[in-house]
Amino acid sequence: MPGITGKAVAIAGASSGIGAATALHLAGRGARLVLGARREDLLKDLVARIEGAGGEAAAVPVDVRNRADLERLVTTARERYGRLDVLFSNAGSMSVSPFDDLRTQEWDLMVDINIKGVLNGIAAALPIFRAQRSGHFIHTASTAAYKVVPAQAVYAATKTAVKVLTEGLRQEAGPNLRVTLISPGFTNTEGVGKGGSPQVAAALIAQRDAMAMPPDAIARAAAFAIEQPESVDVGEIVVRPTAQG
Ligand SMILES: NC(=O)c1ccc[n+]([C@@H]2O[C@H](COP(=O)([O-])OP(=O)(O)OC[C@H]3O[C@@H](n4cnc5c(N)ncnc54)[C@H](OP(=O)(O)O)[C@@H]3O)[C@@H](O)[C@H]2O)c1
Repeated sequence: MPGITGKAVAIAGASSGIGAATALHLAGRGARLVLGARREDLLKDLVARIEGAGGEAAAVPVDVRNRADLERLVTTARERYGRLDVLFSNAGSMSVSPFDDLRTQEWDLMVDINIKGVLNGIAAALPIFRAQRSGHFIHTASTAAYKVVPAQAVYAATKTAVKVLTEGLRQEAGPNLRVTLISPGFTNTEGVGKGGSPQVAAALIAQRDAMAMPPDAIARAAAFAIEQPESVDVGEIVVRPTAQG
């Protein structure tokens, strides 16, 4: 199925920011959505917006740390739309802090959401994609996967892991499946610094407010990867605000 119209797209981490912007963008271009995250109220609002504009979407409460939740997300796409064309694993935690703060719970959270969440998505969607002989994984990494800075080591490590897992998956994917890594720079979302050390979060929010790009910039990058012909696999996209060093 070329293009975007009619494609069944599941998004993990769809309730706000980049995921929500991508859901609205793809729905506007005729994709059929299944939206997953923990905040079901936000997902339902998004579904109402999409349906109000004539689109199709369903909300599935999902915690990406639970493998069974990812299975429900992709199964919902199959039940509603008869197939799954794209899984966008976008859920993430940016609860950054310096090592000396010993915020070990947040370290665990970032490992569990950012790395295991992506692995749980692969486990859920890969058998479906293999059976269909088509399918597209899109994973959200970060420019932190390319440049580590103080107070972001754990976050950067998780996003580097996502980059490595995605490249390995691409190499194993074979001739029918597509695998794309999208690495955003500063993006204007509520997630920047959320759950991190107060001082670090405040500095990041100030940087975000000074230079961040709107989340729709990443939505357009996802759409670019999806709309290519099936024989064209966009491997990696890095999108930064022009002002980001
Ligand atoms: N904003 C940036 O500058 C930036 C830069 C580079 C990379 N990124 C990456 O972009 C992705 C999206 O972040 P964002 O900036 O759009 O921030 P955001 O608005 O906070 O979005 C994060 C999304 O992940 C979901 N999520 C978090 N934990 C989850 C869990 N355990 N289970 C299911 N969903 C979960 C959130 O939904 P619920 O809370 O409702 O579960 C939300 O939908 C993340 O992977 C982030 O690391 C962001």
